[in-house]
Amino acid sequence: MNILLTGSAGFIGFHTAKALLDRGDNVIGLDNFNKYYDPKLKELRTKILKKYENFTLIRGDIKDMNKLEEAFKLLAVGDLAQTRVCHLAAQAGVRHSIEHPDEFIKDNIGGTQNVLELCKKYKIGGMIYASSSSVYGDATETLFQEDQNTDHQVSLYGMTKKANELQASVYNNLFGLHVTGLRFFTVYGPLGRPDMALYLFTNWIARGQPMQVFGQGKMRRDFTYVDDIVSGIIASIDKNYPCEVFNLGGGKTEELMDYISTVEKAFGKEGKKEFLPMQQGDVVQTSADISKAREMLGYAPKTHINEGIPKFVEWYKEYHQL
Ligand SMILES: NC(=O)c1ccc[n+]([C@@H]2O[C@H](COP(=O)([O-])OP(=O)(O)OC[C@H]3O[C@@H](n4cnc5c(N)ncnc54)[C@H](O)[C@@H]3O)[C@@H](O)[C@H]2O)c1
Repeated sequence: MNILLTGSAGFIGFHTAKALLDRGDNVIGLDNFNKYYDPKLKELRTKILKKYENFTLIRGDIKDMNKLEEAFKLLAVGDLAQTRVCHLAAQAGVRHSIEHPDEFIKDNIGGTQNVLELCKKYKIGGMIYASSSSVYGDATETLFQEDQNTDHQVSLYGMTKKANELQASVYNNLFGLHVTGLRFFTVYGPLGRPDMALYLFTNWIARGQPMQVFGQGKMRRDFTYVDDIVSGIIASIDKNYPCEVFNLGGGKTEELMDYISTVEKAFGKEGKKEFLPMQQGDVVQTSADISKAREMLGYAPKTHINEGIPKFVEWYKEYHQL
């Protein structure tokens, strides 16, 4: 297959690209290497991908229609039914979206609009795109299900992801483009994002600084190991349903304090803690009902935090030469 993967230098994009390259697909990666977090990590991921002959990199922005079209021209060759766009580029981070709303509107909504327009123009076989558990807002259901109401958004970031689901469904409706939205639930693993909780906790432990534990440590999250997410993304690429949205979670919720204890155990050191109230835009619990993904994608997350966190910590120590 020929696959255009936006956000290929990002955390999930890198792992997805690598798995697709390993199975022999041609991957065109596109990324603007933005400075939301240290671009050195994005360069390191890209260096690994560049070792593959079947990988092509385009440094560019999805907001730049001309640059994006360059990528689509490379993608739309041969049997168009065998072409996919895996659209993962986005401005991420719930907290960042409170202070930089314009970036989120332009990158996530404007950028996605460009990707959809070119999928239509080049008659691409299907688009798989990243949504988020954030679309559930502050829903109080014990398990989040795809068909529950998601009209009430509590963060700008979540709102842009909800908008992406609506944009995609319009392109399916009007032009028959196949679109699959994936609501990821807190993804973690090696080469992970420095702005996310696992990386921050590990940094604080390593430096002997107090960990900021929001929501008094009582928040519950459905943590998903990156290899499990990648298996769900690849199944979506292969199934290529006309228009669906799936939850991709770890299948189990963990309390933040248990997660922290697992990090401490893996690191071999206990961290100091500073307990703080919930932050604006954060939700008490995220918990994915993954039965739809199990049934329609054969999705079966395998990695528990007891196994996944030590893999991250091992990579972290190597990366930081500890
Ligand atoms: N990591 C998670 O837990 C999580 C949870 C829910 C949803 N998501 C979504 O999954 C996707 C991937 O997330 P990630 O964790 O890998 O984040 P990431 O920030 O590591 O990756 C995103 C990549 O997109 C690139 N990018 C951003 N704006 C761009 C633009 N305008 N043009 C070109 N490239 C651009 C960035 O440089 C980055 O490399 C995102 O859409 C994110 O919103 C992630």
